[in-house]
Amino acid sequence: MTRESWRTRLGFILAAVGSAVGLGNVWRFPWMTAENGGSAFLVVYLAIILLVGVPGLLAEFVIGRRSQRNPAGALYRLSSGSKSWGAVGLFGVVTAVVLLSFYSVVGGWILRYFLASFTGGYFGSPGQYFGAIDFGLPAVGFHVGFLALTALVVVGGIRDGIERATKVMMPAIIVLLIALAGWAVTRPGAGAGLSFYLDFDGTYLRANFFDVLGAAAGQALFTLSLGVGTMITYASYLGDDHNLASDGSLIAVLNTGVGVLAGLVVFPLLFATVGELTGPAAAGGGPGALFVSLAGAFSQLPFGQPLAVVFFGVIVLAALSSSISMLEIPVAYLVDEFGLERRTATAALTCLVLVTGSANALNPGLFGFVAGTLVDLMLTAGLAGFLVFVGWVLGKDAVTEFSSGAGSRVRSLGPAWLWSVRTILPLFLLGTLAVNLLALAG
Ligand code: PHE
Ligand code: NA
Repeated sequence: MTRESWRTRLGFILAAVGSAVGLGNVWRFPWMTAENGGSAFLVVYLAIILLVGVPGLLAEFVIGRRSQRNPAGALYRLSSGSKSWGAVGLFGVVTAVVLLSFYSVVGGWILRYFLASFTGGYFGSPGQYFGAIDFGLPAVGFHVGFLALTALVVVGGIRDGIERATKVMMPAIIVLLIALAGWAVTRPGAGAGLSFYLDFDGTYLRANFFDVLGAAAGQALFTLSLGVGTMITYASYLGDDHNLASDGSLIAVLNTGVGVLAGLVVFPLLFATVGELTGPAAAGGGPGALFVSLAGAFSQLPFGQPLAVVFFGVIVLAALSSSISMLEIPVAYLVDEFGLERRTATAALTCLVLVTGSANALNPGLFGFVAGTLVDLMLTAGLAGFLVFVGWVLGKDAVTEFSSGAGSRVRSLGPAWLWSVRTILPLFLLGTLAVNLLALAG
């Protein structure tokens, strides 16, 4: 049986952007920004995307395209059968399951808000509404619904499932977000939200540098879907004629653009209704506060109800195009390494995440730890492992792979890229890992 591949270059790019653009942009990014000094966080975050995110993305692409395998199989084969490197890849596969187990719970919340927006179900009392649905049996139900939608796409495979779905979702998301941003920035009071978001506060940054750095690094990896092997897996369905560097840069630019755009929707809405600092303070008050503030905003604003349908509809699509990229990793692993049918593999993993996700949906403490802390640690450690592998095991071969399909200008960047992947980037990641672990201990 020949392995599947993307039908078009655009199809690959949109699927990868679909993976990158997700709850990280709309839900986790404002949450983290609000907790870490607003624009100060934004600046550090953008710098890390450029200096660490893009080279890291290319490292994952190189592993995936060279091996044509899932992360575990890729590292095992490319190291000529080293079990330890195989285990590093397998760590990514496990991380994907952990990620999906909380992501699908949040996806369930959004699905519920989307459906409730049609009737204005939460308009009367947004705070109580969320409190009644966030954890417990209703959350389990919507988590299962969201997971089922995810599985439905993945079971269709690369071309007929993922590529076809994301090709419709991504343009829809971008067009609708632009329209929403145009509306949000003209709300009365939006200016305060924009200045919190965009004015640079150097004092805050100097006082909290390491906290901001740790949070920004974690968020930068999360938003670009790095450190799990999603990008390894997606690139494993690519041919040699792709210019990895230009595709990767485009993906990073589009993801960052959508993230900033989402901020232009979310921050003005938070400040427009709940007044200065209540919004971000509320958003900083935990993962659910953002929903409460936004739902409150929609319930007070003119045309709030149809706009809420559009807004939550966009987020459902963004979340789905990311969750399918998480489920695809372990599915590819079972298909590649154990010869399972895609259908069987998808069904087995869906059952597994049904259970692990329900644990998160029933236990707020567990959820908070997984979504806020554990994921940052696993992504950082995972990407550090992938970079060391590319830098020290693949070495020169990585540059060859990097250059295949690229023009001469990109090729000339190969050696500098390899050098950074070998040295400063893993050091940087291990440093932030240490900072995050210290924060956890202290
Ligand atoms: N990048 C996605 C988001 O921002 C999350 C994600 C992380 C997806 C890792 C796949 C792998 O929502
Ligand atoms: Na993202």
